[in-house]
Amino acid sequence: MQLICHRSFYFCTLMLEKKALFTPGLLKWFANHLRPMPWKGIKNPYFIWLSEIILQQTRVEQGLPYYEHFIEQYPTVFDLAKAPEDAIMKSWEGLGYYSRARNLHTAAKQIVTEHNGVFPNTHEEILKLKGVGPYTAAAIASFAFDLPHAVVDGNVYRVLSRYFGIDTPIDSGEGKRLFNSLALTLLDKKQPAAYNQAIMDFGATQCTPKRPKCNTCPFTDQCSAKLEKRITELPVKSKKIIKKNRFFNYLVLYVGEQVLLHKRSAKDIWANLYEFPLLETEALLDRSAIDDSRLDWLGSVNNQDKTLGNSAEFWKVSKPFQQTLTHQKITARFWEYRIETIDFDKNLGFLLAQKDKLPTFAFPKIIDWYFGDNSLYLY
Ligand code: ADE
Repeated sequence: MQLICHRSFYFCTLMLEKKALFTPGLLKWFANHLRPMPWKGIKNPYFIWLSEIILQQTRVEQGLPYYEHFIEQYPTVFDLAKAPEDAIMKSWEGLGYYSRARNLHTAAKQIVTEHNGVFPNTHEEILKLKGVGPYTAAAIASFAFDLPHAVVDGNVYRVLSRYFGIDTPIDSGEGKRLFNSLALTLLDKKQPAAYNQAIMDFGATQCTPKRPKCNTCPFTDQCSAKLEKRITELPVKSKKIIKKNRFFNYLVLYVGEQVLLHKRSAKDIWANLYEFPLLETEALLDRSAIDDSRLDWLGSVNNQDKTLGNSAEFWKVSKPFQQTLTHQKITARFWEYRIETIDFDKNLGFLLAQKDKLPTFAFPKIIDWYFGDNSLYLY
């Protein structure tokens, strides 16, 4: 698609010149800044897909061990498709956005049943895989099959908005259309894999969100943001995410050598991960509220109107832990009690786990932090 320029002749000519300089400059930069990574240069679409889904979640350094674990644990799409969901969640533990892990599993089954285990080789078919959006489809299509599709993600918005001085909000329909067509015109159709990898690496290491390395940037004389001192202003977003505060009081009930766990269900955050019985409140509760027999913790675990009463013996309490997600900030405190016996309802997702088996369950990060904190807090 051709971009039509509605501005002055001078401006449009300048844009054309800038466009002509961008791709060769980027590819030259790429040739001088090779960052070897295990998924680069390979053609196995299954491995490329795994790497891209993992890298949507995290920076390269953090994603690397997950990638290595996945290709070792699930070397083919058949292995991933037949793995138990709990095992995949455990493999994903710590990466966040757990729906991505579930989608990965669903897409693996899709590839096995709908494509006989052969990874689809067109952009259109790749886009039909569960959890694969336009960015990931373009990455797989170009890296694995050399198809001319341009990646457009946060890195690309940043690089292009700064270089061309575009202040159209990237989260608007107009912005998305504009950046998509610009990205496609800039793509080197003869080497889409190299071009896409180059712009990703350039955004990740050179034109970074904070303190970009303008002193060593090959575009320093052409970059609009640099010339106009607008680096911190670009890219523009129209909506600011307002984070919701949530307060989780977790009850860690030790029954001999066992602990009561709860598997979260598909709504809300952390679906299919494990946690403890939870009381969500408007603010963290204090000891007297926790002890208050009117708080029917047991009611929530056995679906009957029962309370902990005096049968549970308070042991210790953690410090408050905080985890910030995209749309919410979670504050959690863990109350440890010992109890002789407990009546719980398996149908509500509760189960008793041996203490030494806890590492085999996938927990949200905030619970892993609590496990890793050995301080003793008395209340
Ligand atoms: N982020 C997402 N995909 C990537 C890739 N292929 N290389 C580096 N960073 C990435």
